[in-house]
Amino acid sequence: MSRKKTAVLISGRGTNMGALISAALAPDYPAEIALVLSNRPDAKGLERAAEFGIQTAVVDHTGFSGDREAFEREVDAVLKAHKIELVALAGFMRILTPYLVNAWTNRMINIHPALLPSFKGLATHERALEEGVKLHGATVHFVSAEMDDGPIIIQGAVPVLDQDTPETLGARVLDVEHKIYPKALALVAGGRVRVSGARVTSGDAAENTGDLVWP
Ligand code: GAR
Repeated sequence: MSRKKTAVLISGRGTNMGALISAALAPDYPAEIALVLSNRPDAKGLERAAEFGIQTAVVDHTGFSGDREAFEREVDAVLKAHKIELVALAGFMRILTPYLVNAWTNRMINIHPALLPSFKGLATHERALEEGVKLHGATVHFVSAEMDDGPIIIQGAVPVLDQDTPETLGARVLDVEHKIYPKALALVAGGRVRVSGARVTSGDAAENTGDLVWP
């Protein structure tokens, strides 16, 4: 089996990155985490990745005088130099331009801490509590030109409890993120998904029943 060479892009602590790395340790996992790239030199996740013996790279966005496309050209060059085939954004806090999005159409996935299309952007747990929703969760989707948009691969739902704070709710969502992201990457790397417009199908109805990760 040829494992898809995957780069994980991070900006921070990298717990989702850790979940992907752990999953990819299984010999039958269809992706290999070949590179962890951060736009922040001080990202905690870089140390975690190095502990796993994974190659790391830093492309510091502050070195490009606000020229987002120049930053992305450098990111793309690093990905190409490592012969990367798939990209998983895991808390990579840069708004992407069409340059990088178009270069990686259907080969770049992202995790967002909300049930999209609700609560795009930041502070998703605070806003979920403000709006009074009873179900919240996380989404893994292909990256498109719009922020936190693009064909949805997997969602995981969690209940919102009466006593929740943004922190307790966020911790419950993070647990579900760590479950669904490895699963989504496996589906994509294994060539088991079809994208048709906004819809992603994996062709197996029985298997799909497991895609709503319920607490
Ligand atoms: C995760 O909750 C991820 O869903 C979120 O950042 C966090 C990163 O945590 N991403 C976004 O908000 C992207 N819009 P991690 O570094 O521990 O994986």
